[in-house]
Amino acid sequence: MKMHIASDLHQHSDKRRGPDTRLRPTEADVLLLAGDIDYVERVAERYARWPYDVLYVMGNHDIYHRLHEPAVARAIAATRGSRVKLLERSTVTYGTVRFHGCCLWTDFALVGDLADVMALNEMHGADYRCLRRADGQLLKPTDIRREHLLTVDWLQRSLARPFVGKHVVLSHHAPHRRSLNRAYGVNWASASFASDLSALMKPVSLWAHGHVHDFVDYKVKRCRVVCNAAGSAARPNDLFMSDFVVEI
Ligand SMILES: [Fe+2]
Ligand SMILES: [Fe+2]
Repeated sequence: MKMHIASDLHQHSDKRRGPDTRLRPTEADVLLLAGDIDYVERVAERYARWPYDVLYVMGNHDIYHRLHEPAVARAIAATRGSRVKLLERSTVTYGTVRFHGCCLWTDFALVGDLADVMALNEMHGADYRCLRRADGQLLKPTDIRREHLLTVDWLQRSLARPFVGKHVVLSHHAPHRRSLNRAYGVNWASASFASDLSALMKPVSLWAHGHVHDFVDYKVKRCRVVCNAAGSAARPNDLFMSDFVVEI
């Protein structure tokens, strides 16, 4: 299975229709879009004519200025029967490869005191001014942490289901501190980018994520972790590869 991987294309204000021009179709079986692509309800239309299937997980930016749960429900409904499949705590299997997809979020437990880190993120993080729950209230770090813990619980059970083949996880947020860019240091903000999910990695062959706007490629034991983020047009990631493919 050849997987073409990209994330963080940030087409949210791109007035052109269709896929990001920085992304080129290549020799692959499936395109994995690891979030921050465009608003959730627009991704299926943009990538509907991509030459191979597209598996997409939403990024935090993809639901800005929308009500979280209804926006996701509408986007899942809109992608039914489409070449683009939105995965949110759900799986899709191609032969002997099973993809487990989720936004993931974080638990804020990567550094320092949990309460302090959550308070600092709420004070300074854009997510807490742009993300709303179904009841219209601004999302809080406690909501994000709850979503993350529910997702980890789902992922644990999903990976434990009997399956003869390889597991790939597709998420927006990062599963390990090694995905963080050392140039920014490790501080309270780091906890909104990654959580330590190394305990879940044993059965996973590949974990593709986004959110960090870097190129990342490392291994935690036998699990390969990759991120190929394009970055916004204003602040592109120079290491982004338009045709980055991983084969398992
Ligand atoms: Fe992003
Ligand atoms: Fe993001």
